Amino acid sequence: MTRLSNDSMPKSEALPVFDDLLSMQAQCAKWQSQGLRLALVPTMGALHEGHLSLVRLASQKADRVLVSIFVNPKQFAKGEDLGTYPRQLAKDKEKLSALTCHGIYAPDANAMYGEDFSTSIHVGIVSEGLCGASRPHFFGGVATVVAKLLNQLRPDMAVFGEKDFQQLLVIRRMVKDLDMGVEIIGGPIIREPDGLAMSSRNAYLNTSEREIAPQLNHILRAMAEKLRQGETIAATVETGQRKLIAAGFDKIDYLELRSEKNLAPLEDPLDATKSAEARLFGAVLLGKTRLIDNWKITD
Ligand code: PAF
Repeated sequence: MTRLSNDSMPKSEALPVFDDLLSMQAQCAKWQSQGLRLALVPTMGALHEGHLSLVRLASQKADRVLVSIFVNPKQFAKGEDLGTYPRQLAKDKEKLSALTCHGIYAPDANAMYGEDFSTSIHVGIVSEGLCGASRPHFFGGVATVVAKLLNQLRPDMAVFGEKDFQQLLVIRRMVKDLDMGVEIIGGPIIREPDGLAMSSRNAYLNTSEREIAPQLNHILRAMAEKLRQGETIAATVETGQRKLIAAGFDKIDYLELRSEKNLAPLEDPLDATKSAEARLFGAVLLGKTRLIDNWKITD
């Protein structure tokens, strides 16, 4: 563990990395005994501007900000990119050192999941469909690790990005259902100038894939416009699917209009109430890279 230094030290030296739970918990307990409100930003590292925006949001709302960096094996299925997922703690630390961040919690997988670890959390309904249909292991793995992080560190609040909108709803549901007593805050999607939603997995895209990738967002925006003009959901989705394939995406995992409140599918006619909660969700494969994005139709 890197020792916690006092606030007067230069930021890059002052940012401590905790790799063991006991010293992390001792630090959290100290902050809490001083009446300082703690925000946790859970991540898998390979931090980009999207993550950093969540850290900034956290620092506006809390006195102390912790970022967890843990590539969670439980949310990867066999054959997915657990082995190749970018791991760059030194770079991540440098980025966080420039922000108001008071610690990094970076446990290793053996410490997180002991040999006999046998528990998994299943969150119903909101985890079904969309990413839950094509990655059935995913939300159980996310809910389990997030529950562990929240129980371990007992933050007052935790911040998650809206790019993984379904994940945000799954976590909100779990926290409510299990009376976990932590405020869950959603942070807006941060995009590249061409519209591509920032993601650690964008690093996998080759040059020609990177040129195609922003079309996912452009097509969602065009679909939202059509829906606002009164086109039916079925016609809008069909046109969107055709455009995605024409743009060069290899496979469409899903392209759907759902309620952002509970992810219930929406049906025509889209009156003002339904439109206000309607969000388009898309997931595509580009080469081996899976990209997701979402767009609120009243944006
Ligand atoms: O969104 C992520 O990076 C991960 O799913 C999370 C929430 C850190 C859990 O591993």
